[in-house]
Order: sequence, then structure tokens, then C-alpha cells
Amino acid sequence: MKQLITLSALSLLALIGSPAGAQSMDKPMAPSAASAYPVAPAPGLYDALGGQTGLRTLMNDFVNRLKADARLAEAFKDANGANLAKQLTDQICQLAGGPCVYNGPDMKEAHSNMDVTRADFNALVEVLQMSMDARGIPFARQNQLLALLAPMHRDVINVR
Ligand code: HEM
Repeated sequence: MKQLITLSALSLLALIGSPAGAQSMDKPMAPSAASAYPVAPAPGLYDALGGQTGLRTLMNDFVNRLKADARLAEAFKDANGANLAKQLTDQICQLAGGPCVYNGPDMKEAHSNMDVTRADFNALVEVLQMSMDARGIPFARQNQLLALLAPMHRDVINVR
């Protein structure tokens, strides 16, 4: 049930954008990858995710789970896990309001040489929720991160 609520909240946010988006009017985000998704992070989100150290631990766990997940293992079997965890850490740190800069490819480019479906995207979100549950990140904070990731579906999903 919790999963269903989160996924429908995610779809809704993808359609209408987060109410926090209004803040980006008076608080412009730094240029770079994050500016493609100009939704302001909820205050305190970066710290609630454990800062840089907590995020790196979370992303290491997330990548391990992606490689073990029956739905996604094939897609991630050749992925360089350490590099992916580092890139995700930088990206989410920056998106969540932390002091990092993501220097990797934009989301369209990063996923252009693979077929990604909506089912893949939803499965990845579920796996991320499992990782956040395992780290004891509160449900409300989980949804604040998912709200930042939701707009990426347009660039990541390339098989309709
Ligand atoms: C919000 C959702 C997603 C985000 C934020 C995300 C983020 C990223 C990032 C930052 C990279 C590293 C790019 C680089 O440095 O080259 C990456 C690579 C990758 N992503 Fe995603 N991704 C998402 C969804 C997905 C989905 C749904 C799939 C499912 C197939 C996927 C599969 C991959 C693969 C296979 C790689 C390459 C890893 C490697 O070869 O090292 N991603 N993604």
C-alpha cells in the first residue's frame, strides 16, 4: 500500500511538478545538470539523507540492489558499480541542496544507448525506496527525494 501511494504521488508530481517548484522563482539553482530539473529541494533534505557520507553509503547499497534485482539485473550487469554510485551520489547531493557538483552526462545522454521502459523506471524507484527504508530515512523525506527525481522520467524513459 505504501508503495502504491508513493508511486501515484510520483506520477502526480511528474505531471504537475512539486509545489516547492515555486521557490525556484526567487532562488535560482546553480547552472549545470541540476538546472535541467529546476525544482527546489525541500529544506533540510540533504542532511536528512545523511549528507555526503550517508548518500554515498545509500548509493552503494542502491547499486548493489539494482544489480541483484530480478527486473533490473540484466540492465545493470555490466555497469561499473563504484563509478555509478559516485555519480549518483554527486547528482543527488546537488539536487538535494548539498555542496556537490554532478559532472556526468545529462540524463538523456546517459541512457541513450539502452532501452529504458516506464516499468524499468518504476522498478528502479521501488529499489531506491528499499534502500532508503533500510537506512531508516523517514517516508516523508523519501518522497521529497522522489519528487526531485520524478521529472527525469522524460529523459530516462526512451521506450514507450
Ligand atoms: C531517476 C532515475 C535515474 C537516475 C537519476 C539515473 C542516473 C544515472 C546516472 C547519474 C548515471 C551515470 C552516468 C555516467 O556517469 O555515465 C546512470 C547510468 C546508468 N543508468 Fe541510470 N538513472 C535513472 C534511471 C535508470 C533506469 C530506469 C535504468 C534502467 C535500465 C538505468 C540504467 C542505467 C545504466 C545501465 C547506466 C550505465 C551504468 C554504467 O555503465 O556504469 N537508469 N544513471
